[in-house]
Amino acid sequence: MSKKAELEDLKNEMKKATLPLKREATNLVFGEGNPDAKIFFLGEGPGYWEDVKARPFVGQAGALLNQLLQSIKVERENVFITNVVCYRPPGNRDPLPEEIGAFQPYVDKMIEIIKPKVVVTLGRFSMAKFLPGVKISIVHGKVFDVNWKGRQIKVVPMYHPAAALRNGDVMFQIKEDFLKLPELEPI
Ligand code: URA
Repeated sequence: MSKKAELEDLKNEMKKATLPLKREATNLVFGEGNPDAKIFFLGEGPGYWEDVKARPFVGQAGALLNQLLQSIKVERENVFITNVVCYRPPGNRDPLPEEIGAFQPYVDKMIEIIKPKVVVTLGRFSMAKFLPGVKISIVHGKVFDVNWKGRQIKVVPMYHPAAALRNGDVMFQIKEDFLKLPELEPI
């Protein structure tokens, strides 16, 4: 089966599953991008527009993510983008540990299917999945070699784009951190 078909199957399985946050949400935001992506972006959770459009990072934070990708001449279509929870938390509240836990097997399966070389975590919730106990202000933009289910993956924690929109220093840092990505992996 092709990776595209495997992802489609997984999406259908998720749609049928009883998952937290589903009742309050409009749509499943499975994720999107190239099934052969070398770089996998993992955000926090869908916001208002993501919930409406059933696509990740299509609101203001998404516009910034698009600009950051353009700054390194990477097409959005060539990466894969999803979140640690795939239904919108009401009012955009932080996802709870048990909610993140319920989506974890599905997000892990996406990584297993796509087999990216690099996972960029956007914000502290996705960072904690790979690098528990670290502080984003200290580790952002650094490259961590992680053994993920028997495969070596480079994990690069970054600030969340929404945080960059609120804070000029964070904006400066996320722009700098993105510039390091092409050195890691030809995309
Ligand atoms: N913020 C996220 O973490 N994910 C999205 O998809 C949109 C905004």
